[in-house]
Amino acid sequence: SAFENGGERLFDLGGFADLTDEDYSTFAPRLWPTSDRGEHQTRLFGDGRFPTPDGRARFVAVRQEATAFSVDADYPLALNTGRLRDQWHTMTRTGNVPRLMANVPEPAVDLHPADAAARHLKDGDLAQLSTRFGFVRARVRVADSQRRGHAFLPMHWSGQFAARAAAGLLSSPVTDPHSGQPELKHVPVRIVREETGWAGVLITRRDLRPTGFVHWSRHAVDGGWVYELTGTEPPDQGILLARKLLGVKRRDQLLEYTDRRGLAYRAAAIDDGGAMAEALLVAAPDQLPARDWLVSLLATRQKLSTADRHALLSGRSPVPMPPIGRVVCACFHVGANQIASAVASGCDSLEAIGETLRAGTNCGSCRSEIRAIIGARQVQAAE
Ligand code: FES
Repeated sequence: SAFENGGERLFDLGGFADLTDEDYSTFAPRLWPTSDRGEHQTRLFGDGRFPTPDGRARFVAVRQEATAFSVDADYPLALNTGRLRDQWHTMTRTGNVPRLMANVPEPAVDLHPADAAARHLKDGDLAQLSTRFGFVRARVRVADSQRRGHAFLPMHWSGQFAARAAAGLLSSPVTDPHSGQPELKHVPVRIVREETGWAGVLITRRDLRPTGFVHWSRHAVDGGWVYELTGTEPPDQGILLARKLLGVKRRDQLLEYTDRRGLAYRAAAIDDGGAMAEALLVAAPDQLPARDWLVSLLATRQKLSTADRHALLSGRSPVPMPPIGRVVCACFHVGANQIASAVASGCDSLEAIGETLRAGTNCGSCRSEIRAIIGARQVQAAE
């Protein structure tokens, strides 16, 4: 806010540029903006003076105009971009918090079921989104709540978190003549299925920026990162590509398994203390084994038993660990499958779910999703 400001813009927080961690931890609420550390007791514009030559406010009379570009046969859907409940801007901070990445761990475009069906797209497919200005790749999320003819892409994923999923790459360059805002809420888009040949997941303690993959994205988990990898190559080539990401120093620290046909691969790197440092799974699309147990090993750093090592290579947890599904309640790490089975066993209200699973009883951001799951299960039961 202080950059090239020189008093020209009222919003200037330059006085806080060298705030120490200690200063920050004792930082008291104050009136903004303030360019120095002193206390300012007057409210901005409270005296009726504005930063114009005569001190009077200027109203800008605008006419409502149509969007710069309309949907057409080539770009038939209207793309809206915006925020997700758990993220802030380009995730430079929130993206490092496992709990905040749990609800929507990958960049995904929301589509109405009819729009998805018309394009032969199902939940979890990889799609290419193209506008007149650029393209990105994202997973498909089929959502009843999405308006038909419209699609929604979150604005949060930069090149730090995914191969090519930044909403800005699709934006129209047309800006509002008064505010300078780009037309971020409407750009005509074409969405097509990306034919993929393999899928992989790397669970690791290391912070990486993969290159050479058609699509990857990553999300923070306790103890490290999970990298979702996808390619258009056949699985055997995908295995070769993904294997390059393994950071094993010594050959005797690597456990590997490839199936007879060379189409599925599982590997784990073991650290000097005998704990799992990373794991890589590669298979044909939709064939990846569940990974919850492997992700939990990253956090616990426990020394692996012989049974654990066998389980690593078989791709199955040695203890029954039913997948919890997509995390709906980030506060208490409760997944969609857990909520659905609680509804099936009689929890028919938000309150009942809260009492049984605690889901929805803290910040409340997940309550509408919980209600939707209860509603869907009740409709199913009635049918
Ligand atoms: S996400 Fe906070 S209560 Fe569920």
